[in-house]
Amino acid sequence: MSIERFLTGITPSGTPHLGNYVGSIRPSVAASLRTDVQSFYFLADYHALIKIDDPARIQRSTLEIAASWLACGLDPDKVVFYRQSDVPEIPELTWFLSCVLGKGVLNRAHAYKAAVDKNTAAGLDVDSDVNVGLFMYPVLMGADILMFNAHQVPVGRDQVQHIEMARDMANSFNHRYGLHFTAPEAAIEDNVATLPGLDGRKMSKSYDNTIPLFAPRAQLQKLIGGIVTDSKAPGEAKSVEGSALFQIYQAFASPQDTETLRQAYASGIGWGEAKQLVFERIDQELAPLRASYDALMNNPGKIEAIFQAGAVKARAIATPFMAELRHAVGLRDLRAKDAASAKTAKVALPVFKQYRESDGQFYFKFQSADGKLLLQSRGFASPKVAGQSIAALQTQGISALTDLASQVQLADGVATSDLEAALQALREAKAESKTK
Ligand code: TRP
Repeated sequence: MSIERFLTGITPSGTPHLGNYVGSIRPSVAASLRTDVQSFYFLADYHALIKIDDPARIQRSTLEIAASWLACGLDPDKVVFYRQSDVPEIPELTWFLSCVLGKGVLNRAHAYKAAVDKNTAAGLDVDSDVNVGLFMYPVLMGADILMFNAHQVPVGRDQVQHIEMARDMANSFNHRYGLHFTAPEAAIEDNVATLPGLDGRKMSKSYDNTIPLFAPRAQLQKLIGGIVTDSKAPGEAKSVEGSALFQIYQAFASPQDTETLRQAYASGIGWGEAKQLVFERIDQELAPLRASYDALMNNPGKIEAIFQAGAVKARAIATPFMAELRHAVGLRDLRAKDAASAKTAKVALPVFKQYRESDGQFYFKFQSADGKLLLQSRGFASPKVAGQSIAALQTQGISALTDLASQVQLADGVATSDLEAALQALREAKAESKTK
């Protein structure tokens, strides 16, 4: 299976606001409609426990966030939408990963370091008020990602370090136990809009300047009325530069309409009138979504059922994968060895095929066990050189690609991780036949 997998986690620690909508929900839902990728969306409720010890708030936030994503068009039939705590394999994997990751890596994690720096500055013990959950958080996040072998993880810059750590864990585990994990990549969302809040700073729960995404119409109007402006009177030209109101409008309006407002600013539109325009534009987009949201909020059983169905889909992947990993590390049925080698003896393997073309050159291709083309070489002058390239791939895996870059080409739709998996299967079969 070479289709790209995207994975997104959302920590249920508050009520979604307009900034979350513009920066995360709206673009993610649009991306989830792509048919060439498989998407995983989950509520990271184990993560919420690190910061929140109010059970009702976690439950409420989980409901609100799930209702928001669904109301905004996330289709649970198209994606895998689940709640982290419904997948007990994730904490189990967290332990496996803890045992291959150096503690020093976690000492350097931003969130933990920030807590330590704060304590140090205050003259407190470095670990004062730091729970082990905060320290371990990157490992739990690594397990979230590696459990589903996600290729791409869309994140903001602040989360890139965690993806690097997940790669580190994947590589350490693979190095010890054979190839099981895909090293994930951060898909950095630099071009998504960050929305200013009521006071003009970035809209964020920690600044207490948010506009709840699904505030009722009247409240939305009132909140927009409270966005900071300067004190220019109607008729005076206004600057769009640094205008929070303008930036918010821009996130909802077409380029033409944005241009129209820019001109209205220049020709002195009054703040009251501008705010009304912004309010109507936002409400026009949100009103239908709000109706679905309200209906979902009044029917938590429906969301619960969606999560239960999502858990079945997620565990259809996680349960067998965890069984494979348990086996790999040696947590095995005591009779397993014979059964395992008997099984591998029968399975078909990927193959290298060497041949000569009418141009007189020597070629090879690498095919998966089921005959699919994975890698195609260009022509070599001699069969010996072609053979050396094959040997390099067999022994070094995909790292041999660096030297062979001009001689071989991945087949269409094949990811390097597929190639690596096939080469690995071949290596393992070789190693096994030697021990027999
Ligand atoms: N840590 C992420 C955040 O605070 C949420 C999260 C948890 C996540 N697990 C994840 C994001 C896995 C991407 C992948 O925003």
